[in-house]
Amino acid sequence: MSKQPIGVFDSGVGGTSIWKEIHGLLPNENTVYLADSKNAPYGEKSAQEILELSIKNTEYLLSVNCKMIVVACNTATTNAIDYLRENYNVPFIGIEPAIKPAALGSKSKTVGILATKGTLSSSLFHSTAENHARGIKIIEREGKGLVHLVETGHAKSTAAKKLLEDYLKPMLASGIDYLVLGCTHYPYLIPVLKELLPDGVKIIDSGEAVARQTKVVLEKNNLLNPSKEKATMQFHTNADVMVLRDLIANEQANVSYLDF
Ligand code: DGL
Repeated sequence: MSKQPIGVFDSGVGGTSIWKEIHGLLPNENTVYLADSKNAPYGEKSAQEILELSIKNTEYLLSVNCKMIVVACNTATTNAIDYLRENYNVPFIGIEPAIKPAALGSKSKTVGILATKGTLSSSLFHSTAENHARGIKIIEREGKGLVHLVETGHAKSTAAKKLLEDYLKPMLASGIDYLVLGCTHYPYLIPVLKELLPDGVKIIDSGEAVARQTKVVLEKNNLLNPSKEKATMQFHTNADVMVLRDLIANEQANVSYLDF
């Protein structure tokens, strides 16, 4: 069973930012990545729709024998992970905005968070903020339009810069010293964010923490792949193969179109 792949899914190509961290930490693990780009963005769909899409993705990954599933999407995690854990018999790893480390590290006690509407309005997000960021001022902004720009290969465009400038304005005016990226598409915006943020503002996302947690859960369940063979890396998208291929930029990866 340990040679079976780890399944990773996202509403689109953004979860590849998480896949890179997992692959970096666990290079021997076989992986299958599912980019549901046809249905992106999830963040503007109802909770029921997000749940149904998450079930569809999970069932595909289980049909190709995945031993574990990483929900590489904040929006799907907040809306579906409890259901998935209760109804399927493999370990699930979810992803949440990294509010806790930002709150712990913040000197100005003011933290900005950029995420989708679906994440910001979820109860999981609110309970995390209440439990881990007491006494911290959180400036939330919905990153409307940003997922679409990453999905269409325009993460470094003037349009992305314009939107980000607008979203960061109230955060900078309030004196944030941390910016939490609460969507797995947003790490691809870091080059533009760095141009816009003053030096003192740190950008934080959840990729490394998710990779560490993936390793811990594999170990606990005796599922680590002991093989030293080259890992297989299968990527599927139900939209533009080129955008996905450009972001992965890994010659060993096999990227293909799949109508799921
Ligand atoms: N990558 C997804 C996330 O982390 C994007 C959500 C969306 O499709 O709106 O939330």
